Amino acid sequence: MNELKDLEIIIDSGTPIVLIETNEEGRVEALFRRLSTRLGRPLFRWSIATGLIRLDMPTGGATKGQGAAEALGRIMAAPEPGLYLLFDIHHWIDDPLTLRALREVGQNHNRVAHTLVLVAPELGIPPELRSLAARFDLSLPSREQLEQLIQEESTAWGQRNRKSVKASAKVIDALIRNLLGLSLLDAQRLIRTAIHDDGLLTEGDLDGVKQAKYRLLDLGGVLSYEMDTTRFSEVAGLERLKSWLEARRAVFLSDAAPAGLDAPKGILLLGVQGGGKSLAAKSVAGAWGLPLLRLDFGALYNKYYGETERNLRESLKTAAVMAPCILWIDEIEKGLATDDEGGPSKRILGTLLTWMAERKDKVFLVATANDIESLPPELLRKGRFDEIFFVDLPKAPVRAVVFEIHLKKRSQDPKGFDLQLLAEKSEGFTGAEIEQAVVAALYTAHARGESLTTDHIATELANTRPLSVLMAEKIAYLRAWAAERTVPAD
Ligand SMILES: Nc1ncnc2c1ncn2[C@@H]1O[C@H](COP(=O)(O)OP(=O)(O)OP(=O)(O)O)[C@@H](O)[C@H]1O
Ligand SMILES: [Mg+2]
Repeated sequence: MNELKDLEIIIDSGTPIVLIETNEEGRVEALFRRLSTRLGRPLFRWSIATGLIRLDMPTGGATKGQGAAEALGRIMAAPEPGLYLLFDIHHWIDDPLTLRALREVGQNHNRVAHTLVLVAPELGIPPELRSLAARFDLSLPSREQLEQLIQEESTAWGQRNRKSVKASAKVIDALIRNLLGLSLLDAQRLIRTAIHDDGLLTEGDLDGVKQAKYRLLDLGGVLSYEMDTTRFSEVAGLERLKSWLEARRAVFLSDAAPAGLDAPKGILLLGVQGGGKSLAAKSVAGAWGLPLLRLDFGALYNKYYGETERNLRESLKTAAVMAPCILWIDEIEKGLATDDEGGPSKRILGTLLTWMAERKDKVFLVATANDIESLPPELLRKGRFDEIFFVDLPKAPVRAVVFEIHLKKRSQDPKGFDLQLLAEKSEGFTGAEIEQAVVAALYTAHARGESLTTDHIATELANTRPLSVLMAEKIAYLRAWAAERTVPAD
């Protein structure tokens, strides 16, 4: 690992403030102990609980309960350049005094080259410190290190229980794959849990590890793991989209794409509201048997400059860790609505486009949008997505299937209904509106103590003005626009 070297470069380059986001304080401390020896610089640590303590030699006499600003004052006064680990100082970073003191130590760097290392599980950085600070990521354990960790944990368990841990090479391999992307500490904890109960490492333990990993990777609401995926059989129509996906499934899942074929990277689904875009996005995960990660663009926005793109980059990195997986960005236009040059949406778009162009991971992007006006043209340029599909209002035969699906879902036998008639009467309805009509009819029937019939639904349809009528102009425009730039999904 080149962590030590990398840190040395950052510090030598004259960066006064280093930010490390981690829970592994012990690892940070160990790393800096080595660095302190190497650079011949004193090493200190501060936390609100212990105050400022020198670590590289036993001096004793810590000043307990010393506040952040006070400790920074002492650092400022120290004549010899030192390395200072400041644990959890982010709680005080909004305090003007602390912030000012951090800034002054940083700006004084050319006189006394102190290095302040801010360590916390999550660190936002206010604009005052931006030009003074650099981020450093602790590297994650490699395959070999994880294998060794499993070995060590197995040996330890074996010694305690006087028998050896049993595991097949296949399970160990799968376990390593699932632990990639986690910190050493988290990986160790999961390995222990998996071995602990019975001294066996089995397929069954893998499920637990996967679940735990999803929880560990939870990124404060930006990225979420969706349990709810759909099968193609629950999606009516969209035949062209389905066969496009079917044709690419094997290539996406294979370790090496066959010669001449690029692994599929992603699609954009455009279309009318309620046409089943979100549903189709979920069904990609179901059809390909992959985990579905949902990226919430709205939750990305952060008050500090530059943090928003970093949130996005972090989320994309996490998605890579879960690969192969489907990354779903619903209503992508909402997070990209054009704002001033240089505003956060522009920078988000830049970050996203770079990722789309450069990524090598097996992360298949499914984005949806229904407002083409606010979609940045850069996103639609050839080569960004493998294909842009247009989800139009369903035609009669598809509508019949939508009725069938939603009747079945509500324990009604579709055979008892005139699906043909219902399909005729629901001209201009979206899938969502058809579902709504079925639900409303069920309520009516229930209120009257009757069982649901074709008539109930037909009455409901007759009483509904579908969106396509209310927004006829908008839909016509959307269609004309889509005709030139997209492929029909059905
Ligand atoms: N083709 C379809 N087959 C089966 N059900 C459908 C279909 N289209 C829509 N529905 C039903 O309508 C619901 C809403 O559709 P969905 O949210 O996927 O539409 P959308 O295109 O994402 O709409 P919006 O633009 O409002 O987000 C779905 O959950 C599903 O129950
Ligand atoms: Mg939707």
